[in-house]
Amino acid sequence: MTFLITAGPTREPIDPIRYISNRSSGKMGYAIAEAALGLGHDVILISGPVNLGPPRRAKFISVSTSDEMFEAVRRHADEPDVCVLCAAVADYKPAQVSRVKIKKRAAQLSLELIPTLDILDSLGKRQNRKFLLVGFAAETDHLEGNATKKLREKNCDIIVANDARIGMESDENELLILFRDGETKKISRAPKKILARELVKIFQNSQQKSLTKKM
Ligand code: CTP
Repeated sequence: MTFLITAGPTREPIDPIRYISNRSSGKMGYAIAEAALGLGHDVILISGPVNLGPPRRAKFISVSTSDEMFEAVRRHADEPDVCVLCAAVADYKPAQVSRVKIKKRAAQLSLELIPTLDILDSLGKRQNRKFLLVGFAAETDHLEGNATKKLREKNCDIIVANDARIGMESDENELLILFRDGETKKISRAPKKILARELVKIFQNSQQKSLTKKM
């Protein structure tokens, strides 16, 4: 199978020097890429800026902004059997990017922010898609409720939910996996590399099951 995986944060520029971003390390996405490669799959890894070396044998595409990540995913969306959108894409970007460095003044400064394109949502809206669509949900509260809402609203097959306070910038995580048919599965706290292997097996089985159903 071919896996398309997004990972890491995006950077939304304010001016040539500054940007808005988040604390995502990319570790979960990279671990899923390594695990998929280890199980003999092909991997297209589309990554925001992180401090990790790209896995050998993956087709690696480095991006910075949410617009670049959106475009890279769009360009490759006909290739995968499984799409795993693990990236912490910024939800907002500055309405205007200053071409020159914004100088400090005594007065207060407000930034106008506009929503970014939602990559997961755009894949969920594709007619007759053949790939399994997996989203992630990092929450600080109402984990199951928020994740169930994302599963439905973004038309995913699977949502992997986690408590952002455990998973962010960490080598470990604890997962709640929600399936389209209402089934749920909990995986207790473990290193991301171990969790990644479990996840890839689950994705691969789900994709095989959905293919058998369509035959
Ligand atoms: N996602 C995406 N493109 C965006 C925002 C999010 O593809 N512009 C994907 C993420 O990769 C993840 C899922 O959507 O798989 C959920 O992301 P999250 O930020 O938790 O959800 P949001 O829809 O942005 O909702 P909120 O931030 O309000 O929780």
